Amino acid sequence: MVGVSNVDFDWVKEVKEFDERKTGVKGLVDAGVKEIPRLFVHPQEVIDRYPTAKGAAVELPVIDLTGAESGGARRGEVVEAIGKAAREWGFFSIINHGIPLETMKAMLESIKRFHELPDEEKESLYTYERSKLVKWNSNLPAQKGDPACWRDVLNVVYTNDHLDPNEIPSACRKETEEYVKYMIDVRELMAELFSEALGLPSDYLSKMECMKSQSISCLYYPACPEPHKTLGAPKHSDTTFLTLLIQDTLGGLQMLRDNQWVDVPPVPGALIANFGDLMQILSNDEFISVEHRVLSQLAGPRISVATFSTPSIRAAGKPFGPIKELITKEKPAVYRDFMFEEYFQYYKTKGARVESAFDYYRINK
Ligand code: OGA
Ligand code: NI
Repeated sequence: MVGVSNVDFDWVKEVKEFDERKTGVKGLVDAGVKEIPRLFVHPQEVIDRYPTAKGAAVELPVIDLTGAESGGARRGEVVEAIGKAAREWGFFSIINHGIPLETMKAMLESIKRFHELPDEEKESLYTYERSKLVKWNSNLPAQKGDPACWRDVLNVVYTNDHLDPNEIPSACRKETEEYVKYMIDVRELMAELFSEALGLPSDYLSKMECMKSQSISCLYYPACPEPHKTLGAPKHSDTTFLTLLIQDTLGGLQMLRDNQWVDVPPVPGALIANFGDLMQILSNDEFISVEHRVLSQLAGPRISVATFSTPSIRAAGKPFGPIKELITKEKPAVYRDFMFEEYFQYYKTKGARVESAFDYYRINK
């Protein structure tokens, strides 16, 4: 994202005041703001940098997981469809994934409930500390002068598929535990299907353990009085491997396709999958990580839950780069190897300004 380093207001003061209130963007809305604070105003040229496609919303490839299990009747067909969607779209929707509709709805409702708790009940979880497994905050910009977005988030991290349930706020504990159990099953099946779609043995990605932890962003996008001036999330690509998203019925997610923003509309019961930069690197540019953003809206709040797959502790300790089996004379490695810590540090130091880390790791820039 392009930042504004010369903003004409006291950015530091506004950030400090917003942060010290510990009530997030929702707190501003509760206080009845009619104009959004300057901290949240994004440069219009950044918002309008790409045109929004006219007409109908995009129809993502639909991956139907019926019969996709190992030995299932549709396994080959599904692998082929996923490979095509992964290479041509980087985004797809998944149906018949085995997660009951009630579980998805209950998860979204419980996240709304959490965010709508009285301020004093959430305050103790408010932090930006990286090491905290469960925290809620808003989205303070990392670089001076940069704008903030119109959203708050509860972040829940499962390491090696595990988190002590007592760490999760009681407002959404039961629902989160239930939802994550299903997420892990879907992730394992996806890992097999992606492996096969890359021409690798089906347990390849699972054995690598590069998706064996989850960072779950439980997002709350409050109604915004001036939605055209700000964003729910700026243009970005996801940093990790796979993102599995559920959202309520309000919409607002857009993906960049052929240099135009297209709406990714909510489909009840469907999961939206997209790859992060690490999957593009791992697959040596076979699978694509596509940029997307979230609009602010007059209507709200909008709730979504994005589950990002991240490496296990063991995988994080090893060098990472394009899968060796995918490197040939015709298709040499596009990226160098690196350590995850270096990678995440890169994002941290670059903050919201970084568009992606690809160029940093690319060989023959
Ligand atoms: C994200 C993201 C989309 C959404 O959290 O990275 O792109 O619809 N979320 O909330
Ligand atoms: Ni994203």
